[in-house]
Amino acid sequence: MKTQVAIIGAGPSGLLLGQRLHQAGIDAVIIERKSADYVLSRIRAGVLERGTVAQLEQLGIAGRLHEQALPHDGVELSFAGARHRIDIGTLVGKQVIVYGQTEVTRDLMEARAACGALTIYEADDVELHDVDGAAPWVSYRKDGQSLRLDCDFIAGCDGFHGASRAALPASAFKTYEKVYPFGWLGVLADVPPVSHELIYANHERGFALCSMRSHTRSRYYIQCSVDEKVEAWSDDLFWEELKRRLPQEAAEKMITGPSIEKSIAPLRSFVVEPMRFGRLFLAGDAAHIVPPTGAKGLNLAASDVHYLAHALTDFYQQGRRFTEIDQYSARCLRRVWKAVRFSWWFTTMMHRFPDTGDFGQRIQEAELAYLVSSEHASAAFAENYVGLPYEV
Ligand code: APR
Ligand code: PHB
Repeated sequence: MKTQVAIIGAGPSGLLLGQRLHQAGIDAVIIERKSADYVLSRIRAGVLERGTVAQLEQLGIAGRLHEQALPHDGVELSFAGARHRIDIGTLVGKQVIVYGQTEVTRDLMEARAACGALTIYEADDVELHDVDGAAPWVSYRKDGQSLRLDCDFIAGCDGFHGASRAALPASAFKTYEKVYPFGWLGVLADVPPVSHELIYANHERGFALCSMRSHTRSRYYIQCSVDEKVEAWSDDLFWEELKRRLPQEAAEKMITGPSIEKSIAPLRSFVVEPMRFGRLFLAGDAAHIVPPTGAKGLNLAASDVHYLAHALTDFYQQGRRFTEIDQYSARCLRRVWKAVRFSWWFTTMMHRFPDTGDFGQRIQEAELAYLVSSEHASAAFAENYVGLPYEV
């Protein structure tokens, strides 16, 4: 089989790229290790930046998003027993959109099926070949058969544990990494959200976050230790601990109920440089990971895809030139590092660290007090939270 762009991975990055290329008249095949149902069962964050929403609108697939999403003009920070609102709308004139990433994935999958583009699910042993030559190809196994896909380019959209980055020689890239000494225990429950906006809470017992998926479904998180087992957390224990970390009026108002999902995720910052090697591009989690504080993961994947679609369209429309392709990595990384910096800073300010003690707690509270009282600091926070602009 032959295509113009082989996309490895049908997560948000691969599916968004598939639609952007389809719209530009570029042929792409997606090869995914898991089934479509498995991909849709993964629960991820739920805040979309304007640039992400604009791409879905421009693809004509934002209908369900506009019906069901919850636009937010502000966010709350809670610390030292009180809640403080950052008025994002007034400060930077923008909103964020609360809409689950699983729903974004579903909308993209449906659009891909509707346009008849090929996605090969449940493909095993995906391997990349000749990525530094003029004719790269991908081998894989499907239903016991060995198959081959020839292409002009490969887009590695296969997440942190994928085959694309692993195919590169160690000398081809440099990695930057920070692993945080804690995780997030997340619970999804069919209970109304405690507040109509998100609450990020700094507390001596650890961080907590109140988020949502709809008016009747809530998503809550608490900081936990990395080696804790999710089975050790009954629903009752979770609700009790969450309430202890929130200001009293929020805790009293909180409606609890049985969890429909409960999981622990580790926190990590990770960046690969460069994000291109010959005819292989890395995009999304394959190239970088951010801690979930601020929900930048999917939004960064979306800006990579925007730059990649732009570069590939330029290549095919302008006589196969590499001008924009040569810019891809540096252009992505400028935005990636700013989001890595923001997520690291927000994480550092909100979580309890094992080695910083009560001094660290007071420093965080002072920083938060400054942040909510200074219009300049609040605006800098808001500008990063809604997402920095794209370059092209
Ligand atoms: N071969 C084929 N597919 C693979 C392979 C492989 N060897 N390894 C992984 N995959 C698939 C995974 O099954 C997954 O469906 O690649 C996909 C990668 O998807 P994500 O991990 O969601 O990464 P990405 O699409 O870059 O998403 C970026 O969105 O959902 C969030 O947390 C995610 O914030 C991140 C962002
Ligand atoms: C979520 O809704 O899952 C969510 C929201 C905001 C974050 C992280 C996760 O910063």
